[in-house]
Amino acid sequence: KLDKKIMNDGKEIPTIALGVWRSGDDTKNAVLTALEAGYRHIDTASVYKNEEAVGEAIKESGIPREEIFVTTKLWNEDIQSGEVKKALEESLKKLGLDYVDLYLIHWPIEGYKEAYLEMEKLQSEGLIRSIGVSNFKVHHMKALLEVANVKPAVNQMEFSPLMQDNDILNYCNDNHIVLEAWSPLGSGSCLSIPEIQDLATKYSKSTAQIILRWLYQKGIVILPKSVHKNRILENKAIFDFTLTIDDISIMDGLNQDKRVGPDPDRYKP
Ligand code: A2P
Repeated sequence: KLDKKIMNDGKEIPTIALGVWRSGDDTKNAVLTALEAGYRHIDTASVYKNEEAVGEAIKESGIPREEIFVTTKLWNEDIQSGEVKKALEESLKKLGLDYVDLYLIHWPIEGYKEAYLEMEKLQSEGLIRSIGVSNFKVHHMKALLEVANVKPAVNQMEFSPLMQDNDILNYCNDNHIVLEAWSPLGSGSCLSIPEIQDLATKYSKSTAQIILRWLYQKGIVILPKSVHKNRILENKAIFDFTLTIDDISIMDGLNQDKRVGPDPDRYKP
């Protein structure tokens, strides 16, 4: 059984998700493989254009709906148009679900405060279990909390050994907001870092497993993406070892503020 965390709204979130950004035509197969392997958390977004494939895999798996945690995200155009309910209904239709476990504002673009207030309504209507944000820096969080009635349960950020935003990590910890790491492996760029290779040798694990275990021990929810069965299995086999405090410090020391995605402050939709 995979590990879970409790969010600030009292709901549970599994600490490992399968990410499906850029999984393309392999999405359905990857999700089915992950569900068969014991994953119970899938992270998609309307802009990934694969919600239908995610939904088909969930249905085909035969696993009861309530056992699977599904996240999708409100895309920029729908933030700008203010058509939040319509966008959510389209996502639900594609997923073949009548609620999502977590709905996130995908990027902190103009209109996000109004969109968030709409999401609060959809939560009270039962279409969303938990609400949150993605790619929010501390100043975006503070601005949102000035108007929000419901504290975001989650903030999903790029976070990897090469991109450690400790300001947002500390802010989320202090405010009991779950931080989720997208591209935890730096889209693959962190897998051949020599210090991580040394740790992989020490623990007889892969570099991917060292990175994911490090994030897990920091209390971060991880969303590794893979379309390959061996890697999907590998990425969840991180519960049979524990990094020492010194090894965590080595990992913490690797930051270069090097992103694989856009900086939320410079992001232009
Ligand atoms: P693939 O999907 O072909 O398996 P991130 O989650 O940081 O964006 O990283 C995803 C990238 O890392 C993808 O290119 C994925 O490739 C690759 N990847 C995922 N898990 C592993 C792993 N355990 N070992 C090596 N590469 C991996």
